[in-house]
Amino acid sequence: MEKLCTFLTLYSLLHAIAMPIAHAKSIDEGPEAVQEWFKNLPNAKEKVTKLQFYFHDIVSGKNPSAITVAQSNSSINSPTMFGVIRMMDNALTIGPEPNSKIIGRLKDLWCSFYGGNSLLMTLNFVFGHGKYNGSTLSVLGHNPILHKYREMPIVGGSGVFRLARGIATASTVWFNVTSQDAVVEYNVIVLHY
Ligand SMILES: *[C@@H]1O[C@H](CO)[C@@H](O)[C@H](O)[C@H]1NC(C)=O
Ligand SMILES: *[C@@H]1O[C@H](CO)[C@@H](O)[C@H](O)[C@H]1NC(C)=O
Ligand SMILES: *[C@@H]1O[C@H](CO)[C@@H](O)[C@H](O)[C@H]1NC(C)=O
Repeated sequence: MEKLCTFLTLYSLLHAIAMPIAHAKSIDEGPEAVQEWFKNLPNAKEKVTKLQFYFHDIVSGKNPSAITVAQSNSSINSPTMFGVIRMMDNALTIGPEPNSKIIGRLKDLWCSFYGGNSLLMTLNFVFGHGKYNGSTLSVLGHNPILHKYREMPIVGGSGVFRLARGIATASTVWFNVTSQDAVVEYNVIVLHY
């Protein structure tokens, strides 16, 4: 029951971010506006924001969203794909289904497999809807892909997420070993102003 409630809360939250806000004021990113924002920081209240979304990692087929851009010759036959670097531009959606509503992109993701089924994750969540439209969150962390939950630090953000810090928890919903396509759930909790 508690789990269901948590899920429903997250689900409503998600709907809140998925709904485009008709007159959402875009945040002023000019240098003067940013300076002003910092000047007002002592009066700003810290907020906690929780987000849940899914990313679709399509490696196979005609339109992959993730491509291998480099691989070391000496470890080309490594069963753990040691030395592979992949770049991704994956859809972020509100649900795990392939046709689920897109609310952003996961960009510039570099995954370097460094053995033992672990990845170095460098990624930006780029939100494209509602009050978070244009705002980003950045993750830098260690991803042991076979673990049920992988906790990675949110190291910063932009737009409404300026000076954000928090945790992104990844868990695999679906993975096809043959094609390497995957759907991964992300639960994100951030402190920001
Ligand atoms: C990588 O391996 C292939 C096949 O063995 C070889 O033809 C190629 O020259 C190698 N490249 C480098 C940079 O070592
Ligand atoms: C997000 O912002 C961009 C650029 O300001 C705008 O073109 C786009 O329509 C917005 N999208 C939504 C869903 O609000
Ligand atoms: C997994 O991927 C393989 C190769 O692309 C494909 O033939 C197979 O149908 C996929 N399995 C599922 C359950 O989608």
